[in-house]
Formats: sequence, structure tokens, C-alpha cells
Amino acid sequence: MAVQYWLNKGHVNRDRFVCFRHGYHGDTFATMALCDPDEGMHRLFGGVFPPQMMAELPTDESLQIGFDRLLSTHRERIAAVILEPLVQGAGGMKMHDADSLRFIAATCERHDVLLILDEIMTGFGRSGRMFACEEAEVVPDIICLSKALTGGTLPLAATAARRHVFEAFWSEDNGAALMHGPTYG
Ligand SMILES: Cc1ncc(COP(=O)(O)O)c(C=O)c1O
Repeated sequence: MAVQYWLNKGHVNRDRFVCFRHGYHGDTFATMALCDPDEGMHRLFGGVFPPQMMAELPTDESLQIGFDRLLSTHRERIAAVILEPLVQGAGGMKMHDADSLRFIAATCERHDVLLILDEIMTGFGRSGRMFACEEAEVVPDIICLSKALTGGTLPLAATAARRHVFEAFWSEDNGAALMHGPTYG
């Protein structure tokens, strides 16, 4: 969705994701590429995934400078930053504070990069608030939901987007709702 958002807006090169050390986003190929490549559970497949940009969580000033530089240097290649807000679950239940989350969201906004929050583990009250992002008063561009969405009664997931993402797909041109552009033929 994030890649096509940029394609629909005429940016053909914004197909890379910034993800974080200790992050975990799933076991399909696209999401394995966004997990921690060294300490995660997919080390075996290292060279197989499309290359992404792995960052350290910006939890202090020097890491914040590095994160800001990463986004400002590569913003023309970056589709989105993806993060498990407040708790990186499968990577070791590693916590970060609301200020770090707020900083990430503000930096994404400043550099016009989409923010995807993966609330698959934290959503629906599991981190205290209904959604972890509420703790930092952050609203992501795209949110990933699952697990407690059905309380385990059904295998169901949902990906929700803010209006500006939706609007990039809303077109009389059927192609805007399909994968198109030079990469996809
Ligand atoms: C934060 C997070 N993202 C993604 C996933 C993977 O979800 P799915 O198996 O539906 O791809 C998990 C599963 O544990 C998760 O904890």
C-alpha cells in the first residue's frame, strides 16, 4: 500500500522501507525483510530478501540525529518507516518510550515519509491504551491490526489508512487501484 501510494503520486523509486533493530513484522517474504536480520529468527534467509534500511530506535540525541539524517538522505527512495509502537514483541519485548515514538512520527512528517505502525501485538488494549500510538498522541498513516481484533476466535487482520492514503487510490483510472508503473509492468 505504501509503495503504491507513491507510485500513484508519480514517484517510481520510493520502494524501500526503514525498519528497526529488534523489530518483527511477520514470516512472509516481504515482512521477513523488515525484521531484525541478525538477532531475529530469519537469519538463514539473509541474502534472499529485498534490501531494506535497518535503523536503531532513536532513543537518545545522537541516535535521533542519525535517524533524521537517514530520512533526509534517502527520502526519495523511502516509501515508509515501519515500527511496532512502544513494545517490540517477538524481538525480545523491548520497550521504548512515547517520546521516541513521537520523535519518529515527527521526523517522518518533516521528511514526507509515510509512517506505518504495526499494532498487531499492541492493539486493542494490550499496551494499556486502546492503541499504543495513543500513548504518544501519534496517528500513523497506515496501521496494521490483527490478533486481539477477534480475540483469537477467527484468523483476521486489517490494514487501515488515513484519508490522504485512501485518496491516492481513489481514481476514475482503474490502474490507480492496481499495481502499475515500471517495476510492476
Ligand atoms: C508485531 C507483529 N507483526 C506482525 C506479525 C505477523 O502477523 P501475521 O502472522 O498475521 O503475518 C506478528 C505476529 O506475531 C506480530 O507480533
